[in-house]
Amino acid sequence: MTDDSLAIVVLAAGQGTRMRSSTPKVLHRISGRPLIAHVLHAARELEPAHVVAVVRHERDRVVAAIEEVVQGLAIVDQDEIPGTARAVELAVAAIPGDFDGDVVVLSGDVPLLDSSAISVLVERHRGSTASATILTATLDDPTGYGRVVRGADGMLDRIVEHRDASEDELAISEVNSGTYVFRAAALRDALPGIGTANAQGERYLTDAVALLRAAGHAVAAAEALDARLVLGVNDRAQLAQAERLLNDRIVRAHQLAGVTIRDPQSTWVDVDVSIGEDTEILPGTQLRGATTIGRDAVIGPDTTLTDTEVGDGATVTRTDATLAVIGPRASVGPFAYLRPGTVLGAKGKIGTFVESKNATIGDGSKVPHLSYIGDAEIGPDTNIGGGAITANYDGRNKHRTTIGAHVHTGVHNAFVAPVTIGDGATVGAGAVVRKDVPPGALALSVAPQRNIEHWVPPYERDERDERDGREAPDGPAAHDPGASEARG
Ligand code: UD1
Ligand code: MG
Repeated sequence: MTDDSLAIVVLAAGQGTRMRSSTPKVLHRISGRPLIAHVLHAARELEPAHVVAVVRHERDRVVAAIEEVVQGLAIVDQDEIPGTARAVELAVAAIPGDFDGDVVVLSGDVPLLDSSAISVLVERHRGSTASATILTATLDDPTGYGRVVRGADGMLDRIVEHRDASEDELAISEVNSGTYVFRAAALRDALPGIGTANAQGERYLTDAVALLRAAGHAVAAAEALDARLVLGVNDRAQLAQAERLLNDRIVRAHQLAGVTIRDPQSTWVDVDVSIGEDTEILPGTQLRGATTIGRDAVIGPDTTLTDTEVGDGATVTRTDATLAVIGPRASVGPFAYLRPGTVLGAKGKIGTFVESKNATIGDGSKVPHLSYIGDAEIGPDTNIGGGAITANYDGRNKHRTTIGAHVHTGVHNAFVAPVTIGDGATVGAGAVVRKDVPPGALALSVAPQRNIEHWVPPYERDERDERDGREAPDGPAAHDPGASEARG
């Protein structure tokens, strides 16, 4: 249900200079989503009456990422006046003037804060007389964060940014998380008074605290129970730290839901991945994007699945798969490469050193060894011999190979597409299949075998001639097996 007295402002206008990147900071990804998307997911769960996002740097890219998560929100463009106070001032102007509820301000670079932590903050704020409540945290290393300066009464006096802090203030380990709740009217009153008297010459939202205090308002600080939630991402080291923490949280949630994850440290699972009970994830596995895994499956070790669907009871070992579907009780790997459009049926097999793409492999069918199956359709219960290659590309266009049910192909076959192999057909070893094979037929394309009796290799012949004092015949013919054959 919509909370009519809640508005949320998300700040995403900054460049993120410390990232040293051509990608705007809030678009850097952790656990499968851009930073800004994590923040917006949390915001959305609170069902606010208004959501406003402030953008500027690379605004179109940032807006596209925002609208992927929340549609119909207000997008506000920050002007050339820098600072978080300016960003909030413009955002507040986009909220209806008669709104007199609470305005939550979230930073687009604080991705781990979940909706329940934000709700706790809002509840606390609403249960007090404070005009603003700031979410704070006590950190072992507060470097870079704004410090929370409390008065003798323990109340919040002001926030001082790291760059502007005195030695004594730098020693404070309680920091501003960049997450705030303001009563709308108090925020509207305080913003115009915020100046630029600081090391960066920017209008800091954090200055609203001292201004509200001076105007006689109470301002509360609510300390986060878990300081890890408020990690701000300003550089790549913090980006990695945030992903590590979020991954720990995701892995633990799967473990508690019945998934065996042998080595949480080397297992990376994106937020949108789902895994069924009693599935086992072995070390070195990465489950990316919208991957879904059924029950009783075994995934890994050293497997990367992106947007891939794995059925119940399947085994996927040392495999890289993207946009693939692996059927129930199928087996994949070790060392398989499943490219987009691979669909492996129930109890099917894609074995070792096999690459597949745009290929449907029927229930119970097997491609066990050293093959490339692309732009192909294989019916059920067919066995493809080792070293099969679908030659799908004629240099200009891609063509399809269609192989029926209950087909047996020999080792080392090339299927020159377009070509169709009928149900129940057999293909001889080494065949290059250029013509369709009717159902039930045997296709052969290799010349009949010829045996040469008592064959002596040419080098042995030379050695024998030398031993016998005969002169070896001159010229390359002596070493040419074809010529020797003709002599024999
Ligand atoms: C900010 C806080 C600091 C706090 C820290 C927590 C200020 C002045 N400082 O510092 O007290 O400890 O977050 O992580 O607020 N942004 C805009 N417009 C701007 C500038 C920034 O929208 O003009 C956005 C950024 O895109 C970012 C967020 O505001 O998402 C915070 O800005 P950032 O530059 O990261 O501030 P910090 O130095 O981290
Ligand atoms: Mg920051």
